[in-house]
Amino acid sequence: MAEQLHLQASSREERYQELYPQLQSLTCRETNLIANLANAAAALRQAFDFFWVGFYLVEGDELVLGPFQGDIACTRIARGRGVCGTSWLTGKTLVVPDVDAFPGHIACSSASRSEIVVPLRDTAGEIVGVLDIDSDQLSDFSEEVDRPALEQIALLLAPLFSKVKQ
Ligand code: SME
Repeated sequence: MAEQLHLQASSREERYQELYPQLQSLTCRETNLIANLANAAAALRQAFDFFWVGFYLVEGDELVLGPFQGDIACTRIARGRGVCGTSWLTGKTLVVPDVDAFPGHIACSSASRSEIVVPLRDTAGEIVGVLDIDSDQLSDFSEEVDRPALEQIALLLAPLFSKVKQ
């Protein structure tokens, strides 16, 4: 079946609002975690043309690269390292306006200028990975628009992880 996103809004906030129900219907019909994360990464990239969108998934004491859209990236990140590992360690979303100013930032690409990382939890509240989005523009992500919208998407994805564990 052909899948197509319908996105018309010009503001980022409205685009997130358009995207959310489409992500919901896209992921609720499929139980395979990889398929759902792959489509979620593709949808976010397609909607906003971000430089890099992807998932890192918890495996032991590391994050391992999962489905993503963009250039090749580092495959393993230790807990507490870089923006992704710090988001996992603290359990908090990190909005980084200038990656060069973030101590310990892991530069997978020199074109990346700003970044947002959102922890992903399963329905039991355990952190199972992070959603990482990079931009080639400085200060491209905001606490007011991107953070709540992406945290809402992280909540939408939570049951997918729980299905895998059952
Ligand atoms: N910059 C991230 C590493 C992953 S790449 O951006 C794809 C970090 O510091 O954790």
